[in-house]
Amino acid sequence: MCGIVGFTGKQNAAPILLEGLTRLEYRGYDSAGIAVREGDKPPVIVKAKGRLKNLYEKTNDGMAVIGACGIGHTRWATHGEPSENNAHPHCSDDLNVIGVHNGIIESYQQIREKLTRKGYRFHTETDTEALIKYIDYYYKKYNMGPIDAIAKTMVRIRGSYALAVMFRDYPGEIFVARKDSPMILGMEDGEAYLASDVPAILKYTRNVYYIGNMEMARLSPGKITFFNLDGDEIEKEPTLIQWDTEAAEKGGFQHFMMKEIHEEPKAVRDTIHSVCHDGAIDLSAVGLTTEEIRNVDMIHFVACGSAYHVGAAAQYVMEDLARVRVRVELASEFRYRRPILGKNDLVIAVSQSGETADTLAAIREAKAQGIKTLAIVNVVGSTIAREADHVFYTLAGPEISVATTKAYSAQLAAVYLLAVQFALDRGMVDGQTYDKLLGDILRLPEQIEKTLEDKERIQWFAAKFSGAKDIFFLGRGIDYAIALEGSLKMKEISYIHSEAYAAGELKHGTISLIEDGTLVVGVLTQENLYEKMISNLVEVKSRGAYLMGLTSYGNYDIEDTVDFTVYIPKTDPHFTASLAVVPLQLMAYYVSVARGLDVDKPRNLAKSVTVE
Ligand code: F6R
Repeated sequence: MCGIVGFTGKQNAAPILLEGLTRLEYRGYDSAGIAVREGDKPPVIVKAKGRLKNLYEKTNDGMAVIGACGIGHTRWATHGEPSENNAHPHCSDDLNVIGVHNGIIESYQQIREKLTRKGYRFHTETDTEALIKYIDYYYKKYNMGPIDAIAKTMVRIRGSYALAVMFRDYPGEIFVARKDSPMILGMEDGEAYLASDVPAILKYTRNVYYIGNMEMARLSPGKITFFNLDGDEIEKEPTLIQWDTEAAEKGGFQHFMMKEIHEEPKAVRDTIHSVCHDGAIDLSAVGLTTEEIRNVDMIHFVACGSAYHVGAAAQYVMEDLARVRVRVELASEFRYRRPILGKNDLVIAVSQSGETADTLAAIREAKAQGIKTLAIVNVVGSTIAREADHVFYTLAGPEISVATTKAYSAQLAAVYLLAVQFALDRGMVDGQTYDKLLGDILRLPEQIEKTLEDKERIQWFAAKFSGAKDIFFLGRGIDYAIALEGSLKMKEISYIHSEAYAAGELKHGTISLIEDGTLVVGVLTQENLYEKMISNLVEVKSRGAYLMGLTSYGNYDIEDTVDFTVYIPKTDPHFTASLAVVPLQLMAYYVSVARGLDVDKPRNLAKSVTVE
């Protein structure tokens, strides 16, 4: 949801800003802009509507803009249409303050009204222009320094922000502030950097500082000073980032999504081995004790999108294995329905970015009620990871493609490990069953690799259906959770309308949409539900549907019913989502490619949804 970058040092800033924005383009891509200063000269501002390549062209790859201090932004529009005018940076009319912002200023209308009365004029529809001019207002009114002016603004606005500003009177310096939107800072070789996410600055430094909520910082070449809201200096230690730069490159694949699908075995393997030693699960790094596990009355999974689908699978897996009550809820609904939580409940937030606004709000709601929270998160140091009581880090590495694949798979692995440990600690499985379940989890990475071998057939099939109008995904039990994810993957990157249905539910209305040739994908990995699923598929086939079946090796009789089959290796039925999701990810990918779409950056989306 918008990406921001900043640089101050000895080199020319514009190429560094553009490169950083390239790594952040997944966060928003409807317009972009930079502001660069050379010494105390006025800043040069360049903006362009559309993809970042337009900004590259306008600035001759950054070479046409000279200056060693600058800020940049890639936008996912919230307030005001995507246009050059609404693109960041925004500034006060006299160029005294110029800034970029990720987040939403909820009170921007009141600020605009107040400032209009004070003689300010507004030229864009954005909330950011109000924010920048508000800072300018306090800076001038009280004749105070940048940190005090920003602090004064922070306590008077409502909303979320990662903000980077330059002041006319402070050449070579950038001032930043943060509330609920991500931002990291870095320093190396007498230069200083800021960005919304680590990949943007990884080429220059691995020493990253996490700025806390309601904190500010001042960047000058080779120096970063942090401040609290009172303007007092605070000390921070850098964190060493372990990812290598290659992890954020396409590595020979045409798209990040395909590369990341191929990284699923590794993501799952690394996640499993982070808590699995000598044939046993050890959750001490997560901080969950056996006693805590035994005392849990109920688990509430809260998440959005694909991460919610992990929760949907978790509900089946954890309830069945550990016999603990589980509820899964959309994080955006959880916070507004005054959830009734028991004092021994556990709220588990699932999030790749660790920054999703609704998931963060759900964690805060639980904490406000005094309920224990656990986060399953991929991005180290992210807000959700820092605020939850316990963190189970998925080790998927940086995920760049907007549509999640490897992070989803790593989240599933984390959930399985929790489920099996809960089952053991709560006395629901004996040692032998525990070993067998863990053995099946440990085999998943190589089985995912095997599943990837079928990609040519899936590509062929995807090309055949790339012109489809609607696609339906059906499943029962865990297969329903898989269908949800398959359907989301398909619609988000192919723009083909698709729906996932619990197979038994279809005939209660939706079956009227099935026409001659409608593609219906049936997921049948649950042996106990297999025959029921076959009956449901026959029901849609007799209404003209074209059937694809996704099942385990051995269920060859499925070919009597469906038109095209994809087989996955056999595993314990609780863990089939990890294997069945792969062909569905591949299918969505190939349909998107066949339609000539931008697979990694589907329209209207952003990787990290930091607004409600
Ligand atoms: C879909 C997708 C989204 C995310 C959702 C939550 O492919 O990626 O649905 O799963 O926006 O994001 P995180 O996991 O960062 O909280």
